[in-house]
Amino acid sequence: SAISRSFSSHLCSLPSSGIAFDIDGVVLRSEVPIGGSPQALRRLYDDSGALKVPYIFLTNGGGFRESKRALELSELLGVNISPSQVVQGHSPFKQLVGRFENELVVAVGKGEPAAVMSEYGFKNVVSIDDYASCFDNIDPLLPYKKWTTKQVAYQSSSAKKMDIRDEICSQRVQAVFIVSDSVDWSRDIQVLCDILRTGGLPGREVGHQPPLYFAHDDLTYQAAFPSERFGMGAFRIALESVFSRIYPHALKYTSYGKPNPLVFKNAETLLEQLVSSLPRSSHLADHTNAGSHHLKRLYMIGDNPSVDICGARKAGHPWFSILTRTGVFKGKENHPKFPADLVVDTVEEAVDYILRKEC
Ligand code: G3P
Ligand code: MG
Repeated sequence: SAISRSFSSHLCSLPSSGIAFDIDGVVLRSEVPIGGSPQALRRLYDDSGALKVPYIFLTNGGGFRESKRALELSELLGVNISPSQVVQGHSPFKQLVGRFENELVVAVGKGEPAAVMSEYGFKNVVSIDDYASCFDNIDPLLPYKKWTTKQVAYQSSSAKKMDIRDEICSQRVQAVFIVSDSVDWSRDIQVLCDILRTGGLPGREVGHQPPLYFAHDDLTYQAAFPSERFGMGAFRIALESVFSRIYPHALKYTSYGKPNPLVFKNAETLLEQLVSSLPRSSHLADHTNAGSHHLKRLYMIGDNPSVDICGARKAGHPWFSILTRTGVFKGKENHPKFPADLVVDTVEEAVDYILRKEC
C-alpha cells in the first residue's frame, strides 16, 4: 500500500508539515467526493506512490469503526488510507474504557455505535436500538414508525432472547455515549430521559444521573442537501431542554470533538507518529531520530468556521487553518468571528497551496 512505502525523497526532501482533512463539507458531501478531493489526495503521493506530505482525516462524524471508515474512504477517494489516519469524534471514547470496561453502557447513533464501543474495549455495551427493544411500550410511537423494517434484537420471544432481555432490563446503565447522530430523536430523547432521570433503570424511581458523553457538539454540518443539516449539537439542545423540564437538576454532560484543542494536540501526535512509523529512505534516516519526528507546520482544512477554524486557532502553533467554501461556510470574504489563515474555494486549491509552500 502507498502508506507502507517510504516518503518521497524527491519533492519534499524531508516532511516538515502535515495535513488534517475535515471530511463532511470538505472531501465528501454525504458519500459523494467534492472539491476535487480524489485528485487533491493523489497529489500528496509521488509517481512511485510514496507520500510527500503525511495526512490524516480529522472528522467530528462517525458511527463506524475507524478500520471500516478507512476502507470506505479508500474506495470513495481512490487512495489507500489506513485506520491510523482516521480520527472520528468518538475516537477519544477509548480513553474511558478503564472506567466502564465491564459496566452496562448504552451507545446511541447511526451506523454501528455498539460495534465502535466494543472495538474500543467496552465489554458490556448495548446499542439504543437493542436497549429500547428490551422494554415493552417504551416508545408509544413505535407502531407508527413504518420505516422501521428490521426486527430489533430482543423483540422476538425465543427463550434465550427473553433471558438476555431480562438481564439487560434489570442492570443499571452506568453511562451513555452519543457516538453518532441520533436516527430517531423522539425515541432517543424519550429513552435517554428514562435512563438519565432514574439513575439508569427506566421505569423506576428518580435517581442520580449517570455520566453522558457526546462525540462532538456540532450544531449543523454539510450533507448532500444545499443548506446545512442539524448535527449532534442540535440533538443535545433538544435533549437538554426536555430533560430540564422533567428533572430538578441541569443535564450534566461532556462533549468531545473539534474545536477542543486536545483533539488538535492528539492529531499532531498522530501525524508525527505516522512519519516515524514509516520505513524511511537512508536520506531521511540521516535527518531524523527514530521514534519521534517534529513537524513544523500543520494544516487544518475545514469548512466549519466555529469548529474547524476556531479549533485550529485555539490550538495555536504549529497549526495553519484553511477554510473551504464547499460546506458550512459559503461566504465571499473571510469569516468575521473565526477568520482562517487562508480561504479557498475547494480542498484541491488548499492542497495546491500547501504543495507550493512545502515542496
Ligand atoms: O456529523 C458529522 C458532522 O457533524 C461533522 O463532520 O467531517 O465536518 O467534522 P466533519
Ligand atoms: Mg466539515
